[in-house]
Amino acid sequence: MFEILHKEKLAPGINLFEIKAEKIAKKAKPGQFVILRLHEKGERIPLTIADTNPEKGTVTIVAQEVGKTTYELGTYEVGDYILDFLGPLGKPSHIDKFGTVVMIGGGVGVAEIYPVAKAMKEAGNYVISILGFRTKELVFWEDKLKQVSDEVIVTTNDGSYGMKGFTTHALQKLIDEGKKIDLVHAVGPTIMMKFIAELTKPYDIKTVASLNPIMVDGTGMCGACRVTVGGEIKFACVDGPEFDAHQVNWDELMKRLDYYKDLEKISFEKWKRERGMV
Ligand SMILES: Cc1cc2nc3c(=O)[nH]c(=O)nc-3n(C[C@H](O)[C@H](O)[C@H](O)COP(=O)(O)OP(=O)(O)OC[C@H]3O[C@@H](n4cnc5c(N)ncnc54)[C@H](O)[C@@H]3O)c2cc1C
Ligand code: FES
Repeated sequence: MFEILHKEKLAPGINLFEIKAEKIAKKAKPGQFVILRLHEKGERIPLTIADTNPEKGTVTIVAQEVGKTTYELGTYEVGDYILDFLGPLGKPSHIDKFGTVVMIGGGVGVAEIYPVAKAMKEAGNYVISILGFRTKELVFWEDKLKQVSDEVIVTTNDGSYGMKGFTTHALQKLIDEGKKIDLVHAVGPTIMMKFIAELTKPYDIKTVASLNPIMVDGTGMCGACRVTVGGEIKFACVDGPEFDAHQVNWDELMKRLDYYKDLEKISFEKWKRERGMV
């Protein structure tokens, strides 16, 4: 059992939890994730390790409420326990001195790029972080990313804060200004990562994306998380989750993510009915 020591609402529907998990806190590297199960009847879901505190023995996760399990997690408070918390899983991000690295986070992806941006900065890179949100009230961690970046650009789709538009617009502007970019690292909704990959490809800018397929065990045993990269089948939980974005079959990934849509809806509706929410 893993105790929640701290909870914070970062933005509507986006919750941060600091969880006591000493072994994971000691071993985790940027880019890795955990699989958790809330209780005996729960499903296993993957969430990125957004931060760690090895001295305190804690791991921070940031979860966006999108369906039954993440909404249920949102009802958990300090002092509550999570039944299973497995990790660190996946391959760590490839950190090196590349030169200028553009970190792109879309929505909850902003929390996921933080440990990677921090490591990239510590490795001596010039780090530009582009943080994309739908609207002003969803903006979070701008200050935290500023601490580990040389430049931070915030975009909102509706222009209510920062630059108006998508993360791709901010990236295109940097390219148009003649900025020499050695690596783009993108984490966010699949559609965002696909468009980032399409944008950088003609410029031949090396682009890495952290893929978010359906996962079950997270340890390479089932293939639920399989993706096609460079024409080859890979299991994102053990071969990734980060891959060369120009080699990923994005349309296949998006199709697979929609596979359980009807069942996800049924399960969420049932959960809400049991609580008198509908
Ligand atoms: C490596 C990895 C890291 C992730 N990190 C984060 C993170 O840090 N923060 C965050 O908010 N989300 C993260 N996600 C996505 C998160 O796992 C899903 O939002 C969550 O599983 C949804 O579960 P649900 O029951 O609330 O919603 P559902 O109603 O079950 O699903 C909503 C949508 O989430 C996706 N999804 C559902 N089940 C899974 C599953 N078992 N594995 C992956 N995706 C699923 C599907 O696209 C689905 O349409 C990550 C996913 C992966 C693969
Ligand atoms: S989740 Fe089962 S192999 Fe990756």
